[in-house]
Amino acid sequence: MRERVVALATMKGGSGKSTVATCIAGYWWAKKRKTALIDADPQKSAARWLETGEALSGLRCEVANEKSISSKIEALLEEGYERIVIDTPGFRASVTDIALEHAGLCLIPVRPSPVDFEVAADKVDLIDKLRKAGAEGPVALRLLLTQVVRNSVVGRHMRNEMSHAGYKLMKSEICHRVGYTEAALMGSVPTLSQPRGAAALEIAALAQEADKILARS
Ligand SMILES: Nc1ncnc2c1ncn2[C@@H]1O[C@H](COP(=O)(O)OP(=O)(O)O)[C@@H](O)[C@H]1O
Ligand SMILES: [Mg+2]
Repeated sequence: MRERVVALATMKGGSGKSTVATCIAGYWWAKKRKTALIDADPQKSAARWLETGEALSGLRCEVANEKSISSKIEALLEEGYERIVIDTPGFRASVTDIALEHAGLCLIPVRPSPVDFEVAADKVDLIDKLRKAGAEGPVALRLLLTQVVRNSVVGRHMRNEMSHAGYKLMKSEICHRVGYTEAALMGSVPTLSQPRGAAALEIAALAQEADKILARS
């Protein structure tokens, strides 16, 4: 049932895990898919985001740690959740490894800076090693460019570098937009707060690309 589970993972803090996790979960939920968000980061930024306003009060959210995450995922699957989005901590943690064992798609957000790319590459190597060692791994690993400054060459340069290095990237990318921060301040997501805005459109494109990848897993 891993085709229903998406994890956001990278050891680099500030790369956009909680933002993408909350916005994509909010998108699926707004589109009437039975969706749950699992916040596995002890900082609980995604869970707090939902608590900030009323807009997402109907979106199921579970806080989990390494002891509880497996049973929480299994319970949600059992309850018929079609999309389970997991936000993970920005440091090496076993809760992330466990999340990845259940995921059909792992999105690794990367800001267009060489440092972020190196950290993301580390994570990808780690997952590759786990897979080779015979551990269950996620079916699909994709780097996702986030906080891209529109019309800058840096994003395009990083995209080329990453694909030359052999990593798979999502075609969609997330730009640096004030709409994300505003949505977080209101406890909402762009899909609900500015449905026709650029942020909502790029989240929709990302979710639809994720749907296609999950359908193959
Ligand atoms: N696409 C974006 N555009 C503008 N600001 C963003 C974007 N993504 C994240 N941020 C901001 O960057 C900071 C870190 O993002 P966050 O999602 O919390 O990263 P992580 O969970 O990986 O640590 C937050 O203040 C968030 O509002
Ligand atoms: Mg976070």
